Amino acid sequence: MKLSKLARTLKPSATLAITAKAKELKSRGIDIIGFGAGEPDFDTPENIKLAAKESINSGFTKYTAAGGIAELKEAIRNRISEDYNLKYENNQILVGSGAKHVLYNLFNVLIDEGDEVLIPSPYWVSYPEQVKICGGKPVVIKTTQDDGFKVTKEQILQNSNEKTKILVLNYPSNPTGSTYQRKELEEIAEAAKERNLIVISDEIYDKILYSGEKHVSFPELSSDAKERTMLVNGVSKTYSMTGWRIGYAAGNSQVISAMNNLSGQSTSNPTSISQKAAIEAFSGTQQKVTEMLKEFEERKDFISSFLNQIEGIKCFTPEGAFYVFPDISYYFGRTYGKKKISNSIEFTDFLLDVAKVAVVPGIEFGSDSHIRISYATSMDDIKEGMKRIEESLKELE
Ligand SMILES: Cc1ncc(COP(=O)(O)O)c(C=O)c1O
Repeated sequence: MKLSKLARTLKPSATLAITAKAKELKSRGIDIIGFGAGEPDFDTPENIKLAAKESINSGFTKYTAAGGIAELKEAIRNRISEDYNLKYENNQILVGSGAKHVLYNLFNVLIDEGDEVLIPSPYWVSYPEQVKICGGKPVVIKTTQDDGFKVTKEQILQNSNEKTKILVLNYPSNPTGSTYQRKELEEIAEAAKERNLIVISDEIYDKILYSGEKHVSFPELSSDAKERTMLVNGVSKTYSMTGWRIGYAAGNSQVISAMNNLSGQSTSNPTSISQKAAIEAFSGTQQKVTEMLKEFEERKDFISSFLNQIEGIKCFTPEGAFYVFPDISYYFGRTYGKKKISNSIEFTDFLLDVAKVAVVPGIEFGSDSHIRISYATSMDDIKEGMKRIEESLKELE
């Protein structure tokens, strides 16, 4: 069967692929430590699971409104209001089957053929692919480790023209763990205003922020920033609910209404049971979030200082999220057996073959001199994995 032009250009998700490869090796009895997955290793909190069970028991198992039930939209509005003092109406909220789905819908209703979308790199793997699926042109703006992986006002101005429609922001960032201070965001907002850009602000890691810092949400910067921003978030990371598939967008009601139509014609509603669980996640106790954060912070401290004491590795200390993104390019040109390492994919293969550790090559996030290590796994695995990496690097010639 002949596939469509679109299908022939689609890339599989690199992070899902590496996780699948590690699982496959494990199933063959090989002792692999997996640092690939972007999901918390904690169980979904009990109160949330209970809400889902109650939903099943009471028969709340049918179709709902495509863009989510009113009660969940209210819970989302209350959470955003409590966290950031931002006010939205129900017609400014759309609930979808995960933030990934919400982003996909957003790009679909905003992009016309040839529209340009600014994406600071290193970026989350799906942004450029989703933009391309929608006929848009991803314009990647490179940021560097020395500058804290932050995009600047000047870069946004330089990279935009009359075709530029959207700026995608993601902070705290997957894969780098960097985030922005208010002042830096204000400058980005000035650039967005000057170029009249829609800002898609993916703040899915807003609750995973270290050193007691408080996240600044992009729409809270000014009324102009609020008007031009589509805020994206969800339950996956904060509440350890990756499998439940609930994400949301908040912003302009026309855009929300278009997304609602698109959901209505494609996926229909996000799972009814998960919606009830998400209400409990947003409105119930937030105690587990604090506990998870504490644990992530300990792992972050350990992993970033461990990596930084390995010869040649330069690791940015994450400010949020649960990834480290070390620069491993020092090892390019080295060999093991008959194989030479000259890029992040070959480095990743080396770690899998020799150290029996699975990580994701940086090239998938737009930087070939890095790898991404997710520390959403137990401290025991982190310690063992780090030891294996350190030992294996000593074998390189
Ligand atoms: C930056 C970023 N945005 C969105 C998502 C998608 O999350 P969800 O599980 O809600 O689809 C992820 C998940 O890895 C992510 O890292």
